[in-house]
Amino acid sequence: MGLLDARVAIVTGAGRGLGRGEALELAREGASVVVGEVDEAAGAAVVEEISAAGGQGLLYVGDCSETEHAQGLIDAALERWGRLDALVNNAGILRDRTLLKMTPEEWDAVIKVHLRGHYATTAAAVRHWRHEGRAGRVVCTASTSGILGNFGQSNYGAAKAGIAAFAQIVAQEGWKYGITVNAICPAARTRMTEGAYGDKLAGSPGEDAEEEFDFWHPDNVAPFVAYLCSDASSGISGKVFGVQGDTVELYRPFSSEAAIENGGTRWTADELAERVTELFEATGMEPAPQNGMARLRYSMTSRS
Ligand SMILES: NC(=O)c1ccc[n+]([C@@H]2O[C@H](COP(=O)([O-])OP(=O)(O)OC[C@H]3O[C@@H](n4cnc5c(N)ncnc54)[C@H](O)[C@@H]3O)[C@@H](O)[C@H]2O)c1
Repeated sequence: MGLLDARVAIVTGAGRGLGRGEALELAREGASVVVGEVDEAAGAAVVEEISAAGGQGLLYVGDCSETEHAQGLIDAALERWGRLDALVNNAGILRDRTLLKMTPEEWDAVIKVHLRGHYATTAAAVRHWRHEGRAGRVVCTASTSGILGNFGQSNYGAAKAGIAAFAQIVAQEGWKYGITVNAICPAARTRMTEGAYGDKLAGSPGEDAEEEFDFWHPDNVAPFVAYLCSDASSGISGKVFGVQGDTVELYRPFSSEAAIENGGTRWTADELAERVTELFEATGMEPAPQNGMARLRYSMTSRS
């Protein structure tokens, strides 16, 4: 008995990296899986792997940020298996550059694949579930780069912070219909991170100990995604989780940490110039910008 027996799921960007691991894990747990991929050969290889392991996979080739393709993903699941239970929005790209070096094309490409790629598929899936009066699960893929803020990734970080917000908002809209929406911030060694960090990519924390567990292996993220796709997680929605190695973290969304008030009258800019420091004194926060990645509990690299 698998956690997802008789269920049907879609994974976007399932041809390699985290998405591949997620598609294989969902199939191992009993789900039939639509492998969404822009790279046909990579997607076909994963469908073959699913079949070889005795599971059911279906390749659907295209760009998940195009609304027609997104609708096609849902239709493909319904045509082949007659139902849809879970959607994993995973597809993503990087175009890292500091703001002044970033071209409008690099900005648009990243925003489109991630944000529109989440919107288009999720809207199509939620529309289907609402029409059928059925429950559903959506797993979104955010990143610590967005919710903590990483140097050189204003396009990617903006998209990923947007995805975390998207998950929290659509979760509220879907809650009374049994539709849950959660986001993960994964960390793993994939083509994407090898491209970003090159040889700065560190091994597992226990690398020099006699430890077999490969902490940064991409497949380590998949079991939590399978859980979020199952009935077992029906009471959890609108949450952002960090997932890597053998750890799952729960993030608290932005929260107000301190306040100053002006006795019921509008501030003048001069008064504010005098008193804003109180906010920093009360919280111990630095007024200068900080790279939030330095606060990571589990870091893939030692880069600052
Ligand atoms: N690897 C990490 O440590 C890490 C950290 C934080 C977030 N993420 C996120 O996890 C997700 C997966 O990343 P990965 O590391 O496995 O990357 P990857 O590059 O190994 O795999 C991404 C896959 O998505 C596919 N893809 C890209 N654009 C697509 C599109 N428009 N439509 C359909 N498929 C598309 C690619 O062809 C590729 O197979 C991404 O959203 C990424 O931003 C990864």
